[in-house]
Amino acid sequence: MRTHHLAVIGGDGIGPDVTTAALAGVRAAADRYGFAVETTDFDLGAEAYLRTGVVVDEETTARLREHDAILLGAVGDPRVTPGVLERGLIVALRVAFRQSVNIRPVRLYPGLTSPVTGVDADNCDLVIIRENTEGLYTGGGGLAHAGTPGAVAIQNSVTTVPATTEAVDFAFRLAAARRKRLTLCHKKNVLVHAGQLWQDIVDEVAVRYPDVEHDYVHADAMCQHLPLNPGRFDVVVTDNLFGDIISDLGATVQGGLGLAASANYNPAGSAPSMYEPVHGSAPDIAGKGWANPAAAALSAALCLAGLGERDAALVLEAATASVLAELPAFAGPEMGADTAEIGARIAERVTDVDPAKIGDPSRS
Ligand code: NAD
Ligand code: IPM
Ligand code: MN
Repeated sequence: MRTHHLAVIGGDGIGPDVTTAALAGVRAAADRYGFAVETTDFDLGAEAYLRTGVVVDEETTARLREHDAILLGAVGDPRVTPGVLERGLIVALRVAFRQSVNIRPVRLYPGLTSPVTGVDADNCDLVIIRENTEGLYTGGGGLAHAGTPGAVAIQNSVTTVPATTEAVDFAFRLAAARRKRLTLCHKKNVLVHAGQLWQDIVDEVAVRYPDVEHDYVHADAMCQHLPLNPGRFDVVVTDNLFGDIISDLGATVQGGLGLAASANYNPAGSAPSMYEPVHGSAPDIAGKGWANPAAAALSAALCLAGLGERDAALVLEAATASVLAELPAFAGPEMGADTAEIGARIAERVTDVDPAKIGDPSRS
């Protein structure tokens, strides 16, 4: 029987609960399609850091690398200085494993109501492709004279041809397989150096995809266009920070952060890709059972697709969408079921759902 080896990092806050719930769906999909999933849990996150003083060491990174894929819940804890876990684990793994392409689908599934009036399943199906290793996330710079009136902070932004081209090329390929529209989102009216390089790379790659039309939208204007007219977009390609911000906006349009999936994808296949919800550890609801595991389940579906298990990916996505359509709300006690119960419902639905009902996730 073919076996996929998954590294599992539950992490902090709601991370472990949503990951456990998502794995129930993965196992049900594996049973339905006759493959095996072997998981290895990695004790990483706030507790491990507070205990050892180390976020992730080289030996652990090497063990993660041996897996076919990584499933991550979330990290971040009020007891730990912001950035220590987020940069030390997530950003570090994205860079170490050359996951230059972050895939963030924004899709309103049939039967679901968007918080935004006028948005429905027919006009909300786009994918944000976010360059995932550079921009302002490279971390260069420094803070001088901290705590004094003369304090100065410099935060460098780096844009290189290889990583940007990987993201742009992936985005064009995806658009070519979808509705053949690509939008570059940046802020080239002010960030003229990086903006020019992004535009140059898009124009250059576009020559290889003559069927795909492309346009440009400034990141600030995107914050109006995306919620009011998501149907205008098919694939949006953007830099690391803009992608972070507009993907939370996209999450809102599709029903909330509890529904938004992502894949940190290594296009060369030289190291494992990592799949995680767009949301964080949500300390405000941690331990209450109020977290929606749909984002984690849909991320796990992207993982199955990445592992070549297309049918299993499709049923996990369809089962999640079908369970979501029955929930009275997408977050909090108003969901009417807790995180584990929703995970169990998704797993049960995986056994008999008709994947044709929601279309083809291979597009994303
Ligand atoms: P967050 O995404 O954790 O939460 C934002 C809001 O959305 C909160 O009100 C939360 O309750 C709600 N929410 C999030 N996920 C939900 C779910 N599955 N179901 C229902 N509601 C959900 O963002 P934040 O509050 O800004 O950050 C909290 C911590 O998480 C911080 O430490 C931050 O750095 C970290 N963070 C981690 C990741 C990650 O691990 N990938 C992503 C974002 C933020
Ligand atoms: C996300 C998160 C991360 C990011 C943090 C936790 C490093 O917000 O995945 O969207 O900014 O990329
Ligand atoms: Mn984010």
